[in-house]
Amino acid sequence: MATNNEKIITVVGARPQFIKSAPVSHALRKYSKYHEVLVHTGQHYDRNMSETFFDELDMNPPAYNLGTGSGSHAEQTAKIMERFETVLTKERPQLIIVYGDTNSTLAGALTASKLHIPIAHVEAGLRSFNRRMPEEINRIVADHISELLFCPTKRAVLNLNNEGIKENVFYCGDVMFDAALEFSKKAEERGISHNRLEINKKGYVLATVHRAENTDNRQRLSNILLALQKVSRDLPVVMPLHPRTRKMIHYFALEDRLQGLSVTEPLGFLDMLYYEKNASLIITDSGGVQKEAYFCRVPCVTLRDETEWVETLEAHWNVLADVDSIEGINEPIRASLFFSGTRLNIDEYGDGRASQKIVQELERYLDRL
Ligand code: UD1
Ligand code: UDP
Repeated sequence: MATNNEKIITVVGARPQFIKSAPVSHALRKYSKYHEVLVHTGQHYDRNMSETFFDELDMNPPAYNLGTGSGSHAEQTAKIMERFETVLTKERPQLIIVYGDTNSTLAGALTASKLHIPIAHVEAGLRSFNRRMPEEINRIVADHISELLFCPTKRAVLNLNNEGIKENVFYCGDVMFDAALEFSKKAEERGISHNRLEINKKGYVLATVHRAENTDNRQRLSNILLALQKVSRDLPVVMPLHPRTRKMIHYFALEDRLQGLSVTEPLGFLDMLYYEKNASLIITDSGGVQKEAYFCRVPCVTLRDETEWVETLEAHWNVLADVDSIEGINEPIRASLFFSGTRLNIDEYGDGRASQKIVQELERYLDRL
């Protein structure tokens, strides 16, 4: 039996991490004897990028908010490390859990590893093989210093094996699939009572853009917005705008390229799921949204040169766009809207019980310590 001071610290900080951690937190509450202490790094801080998710996803409020905020990669990582070290020294958890590939993941994992606290990495083993992506560096480091590696796909297991990581590697499915399943019905029910934007089911496109390689390059950002404007002449385009993208559109004076698009503030997860389910096409550079498109069986155009979620490409639910030219975006959009081939099922993402499997392995590991 675990005693009072037997605890796990979960580190989250950016929007997708609130969503990934929700089903695992629920599983910990239900199946584990270990007490979870939630630490929010403060990487994301606007209400609609943070607090909304805690309210909607039935999560306990964080025990600590490190209040890190925005900054350069070094600033953000260093601030989180410094502040998180104080928490770790005080709380002395048996283990910490980190999610995905953000600066909060890297900083959380590095801090714990220096204090010899074991790390469990959820969403381990993903690779884009593009080291110019900050996320690729974050996930490689996190994987190499973690004791337990929870992989969402079999390909992720293979990627780890190829880098010599073979012990305590578990293929458990994708926690984002758990989250989508868990909140799907609620999203649909709310959708009916809410009746938000005046759009017809299966009669609009949903678009999100936030990746540094797209937002911080004027030409690429402009190409994306022009391509979306072109689509919007035939189908309404709903675009919840990430604060980074809003900032960069203003910085590059591209506001006129938003004309004709139904731009909204960032959405809560339930609204987002509702818009994903009912879209005819999703256009995105988000990792999570690409997969949710598949979960909802909506075709997706990914505004990137590569993806970690290669299964979605192989099953013809997803296609990459070349953002360096407008036609490079228009062409896959047309191909997706008029696709006449067969789209396949993907069994990689598990059965909606990834979180439960993760908690079982965590218990097994901790009980052996
Ligand atoms: C981060 C992650 C990225 C993830 C994304 C999810 C890193 C390196 N990147 O990118 O992997 O896909 O989160 O959304 O960790 N901002 C606000 N309010 C907020 C948060 C951010 O205004 O609540 C603005 C600030 O101007 C900030 C910019 O957005 O400088 C970027 O935020 P940051 O957390 O650094 O990176 P993201 O682009 O959000
Ligand atoms: N998301 C959301 N509201 C939005 C945009 C995205 O709730 O306005 C959700 C989306 O459904 C997915 C997650 O945020 O679950 C993806 O996060 P994001 O695109 O910020 O980051 P990435 O997955 O690329 O790291």
